Amino acid sequence: AAPVRYEAETSPAVCTGTIDSEWAGYTGSGFCNGTNATGAFAQFTVDAPAAGTATLTVRFANGTTTARPANLLVNGAVTASAAFEGTGAWNAWATRVFTVPVKAGANTVRLSPTTSAGLPNVDRLDV
Ligand code: GCU
Repeated sequence: AAPVRYEAETSPAVCTGTIDSEWAGYTGSGFCNGTNATGAFAQFTVDAPAAGTATLTVRFANGTTTARPANLLVNGAVTASAAFEGTGAWNAWATRVFTVPVKAGANTVRLSPTTSAGLPNVDRLDV
């Protein structure tokens, strides 16, 4: 099936931080600028037609030269992690792909930073 796009700024997505739009190149109306702290997160609610695996493509930007590592939790369980390295500028967006287990119906997909630097800016999730 064609990918479904979930924007970080669109409910039921949750952004622990602010929805910003000053860095060009995002899709939709903005992106999630998560609070720079370990407890912050960006969360999407993803619908799956059946239980199985889903391919998730996260679009992000990290304008620093330091990675912003995060865990990816599906329905509360850590299923993957990524470094979210520097992308060169805040307006330079990159993608990271994850293959994760999902259940039929609604699934929460949360990016949870593992350092006090918090998350990169998060634009969207394609599933
Ligand atoms: C800057 C930038 C933000 C970014 C933040 C950060 O303030 O403008 O978009 O989220 O740095 O370091 O997280």
